[in-house]
Amino acid sequence: MISSTVGRSGVTGLRVLALAALALAAANLGGGVAQAKTNAKEPQDVSFSFEGPLGHFDQAELQRGFKVYAEVCSACHSMNLLSYRDLAQPGGPFWDPKHPNIAPAQSPFAKAIAAQYQVPDIDPDTGDVIQRPATAADHFKAPFANEYAARAANGGALPPDLSVIARAREGGPAYIYSLLLGYEDAPAGLTVPDGKYYNPYMAGDMSSYWKGPKDKVPEGGFIAMARQIIDDRVQFDDKTPSTSANEAHAVATFLAWAADPHQVERKQTGIAVMLFLFVFTLLTYLSYRRIWRNIAH
Ligand code: HEC
Repeated sequence: MISSTVGRSGVTGLRVLALAALALAAANLGGGVAQAKTNAKEPQDVSFSFEGPLGHFDQAELQRGFKVYAEVCSACHSMNLLSYRDLAQPGGPFWDPKHPNIAPAQSPFAKAIAAQYQVPDIDPDTGDVIQRPATAADHFKAPFANEYAARAANGGALPPDLSVIARAREGGPAYIYSLLLGYEDAPAGLTVPDGKYYNPYMAGDMSSYWKGPKDKVPEGGFIAMARQIIDDRVQFDDKTPSTSANEAHAVATFLAWAADPHQVERKQTGIAVMLFLFVFTLLTYLSYRRIWRNIAH
């Protein structure tokens, strides 16, 4: 196929090919280097209610996950792409199926949650920067005013925005779950730099901190986030035991929802389309039989 393309479009085709080859080589180089240096552990094989074609978000777990984010993670991590009203959109943690006609921005749940936060604004009379209670239409309050403040408070490391982190990391929610629970003592022979922690699920290059044999560098990397999830860190309102596993599972579920809130609707549409196609095929076949029934063919 490639040679026929070259033959037909001549020099332009060759140039395109050469460029593509260059791009491929560059991509390979990048990938190769990253692969050689990082050997993070595979995320744990943990199951989530929203997996598979019939999966759905467990609303109670989404609420618990939001609570973990609000009480723990939001001290350092922003979620800039979310507004408080998004929490009340269909399928969201505070969606109320009994009152489907209430717009998310009017949801009493979204309003009550927003009202707990003070956000910066400008006083239209004086032009001064003021703080006012958030409304459901406001974006989630960010913990730091800007990146410099965020880095200064975290030993130079930037806590990434968590809005789409579940899609930005390979392994998604299973990775987040494993990372949050994966902290362990560094293996003997590994020097952990100041302000960093060893985590076997984190990607990184630890070879220069390792005193053992060069081909036996331990799995994982260093992370500038200390362990956050421990038993009883968050008290759940629905009497779910506050084990670290439940807390990590709930926040991973919440972050998966935030990164792709319409995935359940999408799957349901897919199933409806498949059913329709199946019925349509059957009808077409039956009418074919009927039309040709008395005709020799
Ligand atoms: C005390 C501040 C702090 C808190 C609280 C905190 N984090 Fe972090 N987090 C950080 C910092 C700093 C980094 C960047 C680490 C690095 O680059 O080494 C980070 C990185 C991460 C990463 C990215 C790891 C990667 O693959 O690069 C995830 C995911 C994450 N945090 C999730 C959470 C969750 C979920 C919570 C709440 C349960 C939480 N964090 C609470 C400071 C915090």
